[in-house]
Amino acid sequence: MDIASLIQSRLSETYELHRRYVNPQFVRVLEVIGFNRNYCRARGATLIDEKGREVLDFLAGFGVFNIGRNHPVVAQVIQDMLHCSAPNLVQMDVGVVSGLLAEALARITPTELNAVFFTNSGAEGVEGALKFARQATGRHKVVYCNRAFHGLTLGALSVNGNEEFRSRNEPLLPGCIPVPFNDLNALEAALSAGDAAAFIAEPIQGKGVFVPDDDYFPGVRRLCDRYGTLFIADEVQTGFGRTGRMFALNHWDVTPDILVVSKALSGGYIPLGAIITKRAIHSRVFDCMDRCFAHSNTFGQNNLAMAAGLATLDVIEQENLIDRSARLGNYLMKGLNDMAARYELLHQVRGKGLMIGIQFGPPRSLSLKTGWKLLHKMNEELFCQMITIPLLERHHILTQVAGHGLDTVKILPPLIIDTADADRFLNAMDDVLKDAHKFPGSAWTTVKNLGLRTAKTA
Ligand SMILES: Cc1ncc(COP(=O)(O)O)c(C=O)c1O
Repeated sequence: MDIASLIQSRLSETYELHRRYVNPQFVRVLEVIGFNRNYCRARGATLIDEKGREVLDFLAGFGVFNIGRNHPVVAQVIQDMLHCSAPNLVQMDVGVVSGLLAEALARITPTELNAVFFTNSGAEGVEGALKFARQATGRHKVVYCNRAFHGLTLGALSVNGNEEFRSRNEPLLPGCIPVPFNDLNALEAALSAGDAAAFIAEPIQGKGVFVPDDDYFPGVRRLCDRYGTLFIADEVQTGFGRTGRMFALNHWDVTPDILVVSKALSGGYIPLGAIITKRAIHSRVFDCMDRCFAHSNTFGQNNLAMAAGLATLDVIEQENLIDRSARLGNYLMKGLNDMAARYELLHQVRGKGLMIGIQFGPPRSLSLKTGWKLLHKMNEELFCQMITIPLLERHHILTQVAGHGLDTVKILPPLIIDTADADRFLNAMDDVLKDAHKFPGSAWTTVKNLGLRTAKTA
């Protein structure tokens, strides 16, 4: 099969294929917001569409491409792995490449975290972490945060703090208790009965990009220790340099009992994740030879993913991407904060490293207030489209809205971007904000029409 020719010959049918065989509602969304491009090549922070337009990727596949797209070092290692005819997934053996990646992960995490279980996704990691915590403590209650996102399988969904994902799936797992994020009193109230197996949280919440106070996670650690609860840190999105440190919890020098990682670990090539725990927790789950498969999967330790993981960790180190994430993140946040002083709709910029939320809010001036109210009355989701649509349409920069019903745009660029990329984004944002501050004006009319169109076709 000549896959390149096949892709080329059927490229124009992409959206029709998805409409017919995959997810027609998503196709409709992409068409309505004008994001229905056919991307045909990618390198680093650049996507190239069928018309040859170069798009600056400030989404990075929801945080998968920390090292940029199609990194040549990882591609070469995967090819080498394919060409060495290594035995893969023998199952009744243990493989050297998975052993090496486990060793590499143990090296970059705090010393106590040295037992690794490989998974195929973030949600699978969360499922496993919940099982490990229940088995290791003999308790079943799990405390989680409002607005949390840990994936969409049933266990992970039971600790998801967003109604739009939970609805139509109830009843979910019993004994899952929500608390507000960044609230130690609420957490203590939920843990104080001493019956919670685990508290699970993202160090920085992905939906909305909410950053906790500096004393929150040290306090979480103390409370979990006090009440015998295991602390599960979900660093699926924040891991591997995304926030300017290897792991976001490093900002506060906190070690979780169970660390869940995925997304960026394999350089975006092959699904891969890991649950990294303290050995004592692992030993309580896998506590005798009969239970050596107490938790397992088929593809978790596949050679291609393992090799991609080793290569990706090497690239992160060799290219000094963690420092770069911190530096470019500060640069972008400073630029955006300068804009917040000039544009009244831009209320707050929050984040760490290259995980940044740009929060909009009600304006002070009368005319803009009218536009803001009109739009929000039509649809809570509309305002940010006024930012993300022209960013792509006019400036060829791909971004996303930070979550349902939020007036927040989120940027997650690859960590390899440079100051020219950051300047391109800041200039584009400035241009888009200038337009958004003219009411009445074409920017408001465009999203109003979009709202009317979606209401009609819903
Ligand atoms: C923090 C967090 N946890 C878990 C997940 C689920 O990962 P996956 O989509 O690989 O199942 C995500 C995905 O966005 C995430 O951001």
